[in-house]
Amino acid sequence: MNLDTVIAKIPDFPKPGILFYDITTVFKTPAALRFCLEQICSHFPAEEIDGVVGVESRGFIMSSLYAHETQTPLLLARKAGKLPGKTVSKKYALEYGTATMEMHVEDIVAGKRYLIVDDLIATGGTLAAVAHMIEQQGGEVAGIFSIIGLPFLQYEEKIGQYRIITLQDYH
Ligand code: PRP
Ligand code: MG
Repeated sequence: MNLDTVIAKIPDFPKPGILFYDITTVFKTPAALRFCLEQICSHFPAEEIDGVVGVESRGFIMSSLYAHETQTPLLLARKAGKLPGKTVSKKYALEYGTATMEMHVEDIVAGKRYLIVDDLIATGGTLAAVAHMIEQQGGEVAGIFSIIGLPFLQYEEKIGQYRIITLQDYH
């Protein structure tokens, strides 16, 4: 499956000069979505993962499919203020300003292995924040999965220490 032919490219979104890689076309193409699920399951066998962490919001989709397929617990990393229980949080940089990711403290258990799933890695700031929360609670980041990677944005500088699987990179 050549995902590049499925991923839509939208010029000048969300602002002039940015080429936006639109993952919604993968989600509405069943064969492409199935391919992504087969890939994540083959790279991260269920026996090696104790919990899958879905990153709000576009990361929720693949993480849910993986959780269901492998019968692995699904844990949510959410934007600040959405989770009702006791949370751990980590601020991260956006192009302009900052944002904060949160997880339920009780969702991360020391010594357990977590797979983090998102749709696209740009600067790596979002995933670095999620990885930080997992490690702060004593969990192990077993890997990171994303459909798209933009390595020219130097995400390796932030998350290069982890095992990262991307299915389609743009340079
Ligand atoms: C996008 C994308 C990744 C993140 C990547 O999410 O879905 O989560 O940005 O950027 P980074 O590697 O530079 O941190 P966004 O926060 O735009 O929102 P959404 O997933 O809720 O649509
Ligand atoms: Mg996102």
